[in-house]
Amino acid sequence: MDLGLTDKIAFVTGSSRGLGYACAEVLLLEQAKTIINSRSLQNLQSAKEKLLNSTHQMADLFAGDVTAQNFAGESTAFIESKFGKLDLLITNSGGPPPGTIETLTDQQWQDAIELSFLCHMRLIRAALPLLRKSECPSILTITSYSVKQPIENLILSNSIRSATVGLTKTLALELGKENIRVNSILPGSTNTERITALFENNAKLNNTTPEAEREKQEKAIALGRIAKPAEFARAAVFLASPAASYLTGVMLSVDGGAVKGVY
Ligand SMILES: NC(=O)c1ccc[n+]([C@@H]2O[C@H](COP(=O)([O-])OP(=O)(O)OC[C@H]3O[C@@H](n4cnc5c(N)ncnc54)[C@H](OP(=O)(O)O)[C@@H]3O)[C@@H](O)[C@H]2O)c1
Repeated sequence: MDLGLTDKIAFVTGSSRGLGYACAEVLLLEQAKTIINSRSLQNLQSAKEKLLNSTHQMADLFAGDVTAQNFAGESTAFIESKFGKLDLLITNSGGPPPGTIETLTDQQWQDAIELSFLCHMRLIRAALPLLRKSECPSILTITSYSVKQPIENLILSNSIRSATVGLTKTLALELGKENIRVNSILPGSTNTERITALFENNAKLNNTTPEAEREKQEKAIALGRIAKPAEFARAAVFLASPAASYLTGVMLSVDGGAVKGVY
C-alpha cells in the first residue's frame, strides 16, 4: 500500500531517539521530508547520521525544548521559511518522571502539565496556519496507554495525558470540516531508553531487579513481549498518513494487548 507520503512535509518533535526517532525513520523511508527535534543539537546530529545510514534520506533539524514558551512559534517559523507549509505534525517529547501522590512536588506536577499537555496544545495552535496550506493535513499526538489503564508508579502520566486525548478529540471534531485529521497514538511498553529507566526505578521501589520488572510487564501483555520501536512507528505513521484519510478522532493503542478493557 502506498501511504502517499512522498515529498510530504513532516515535523516530529522529541525525535533524536526512541518512539519519535522511529517515526522519523519510517517517514524518511516513505520519502517524506522530515524535520526532527530534540533539546540537544548534538543528539540531533547523530540521529541525522544514523537516519541517513538506514534510510539514505537527509532529515532537517530543529533543536529546542518543546516546553520553552517560544518553541512553537520559532519551530513553525523555521518550517514556514524552509517549506512554506506542513502536512504532518507529530507531537512528542520525553515522559514525566515516576512517583506517587506523596512523593511528587507541586513543581513536578506543573512541569508535567507543560511537558505532557501544554506543549502539544501550543505546537498544534502555532502549526495550524501551515497545516491549512496542506492538501492532506494531519496531526498526531503521542500519548500513552496510561489514559486507558493506569501504569504503576506513573501518576503524572496517568492523570495529565487524559487532557491531551481530550484536546485531540475536541480538535478532531472542530477541525474535521477543514479536512484536518487529528488522532492520538497510545504506546504500550516499547523498548526505548525511557522504558529501561522505568524498569530500573521500579526495581528499586519493589526491591527486585530491572529484569524481573521487565518479565512482570511482559506477562501482563497479551502478546507476551515489549514492542520494538519500529512496530509502534509503522502504526503511527500509517495513522498520520494520507492513506488513513477517513480516520480522525481515533485514540489508537499500540500495546500488544496490554489494556484489558474492551474499548
Ligand atoms: N517507551 C514506552 O514504553 C512508552 C510507553 C508509553 C508512553 N510513552 C511516552 O512516549 C513518549 C516518547 O517515549 P520514548 O520512550 O521515546 O522516550 P525517550 O526514549 O525518553 O525519548 C524521548 C525523546 O524526546 C526528546 N525530548 C525529551 N524531552 C524533550 C523536550 N522537553 N523537548 C524536546 N525534546 C525532548 C529526547 O531527546 P533529548 O534528550 O535530546 O532532548 C528524545 O529524543 C514519552 O512521552 C513517553 O512517556 C513511552
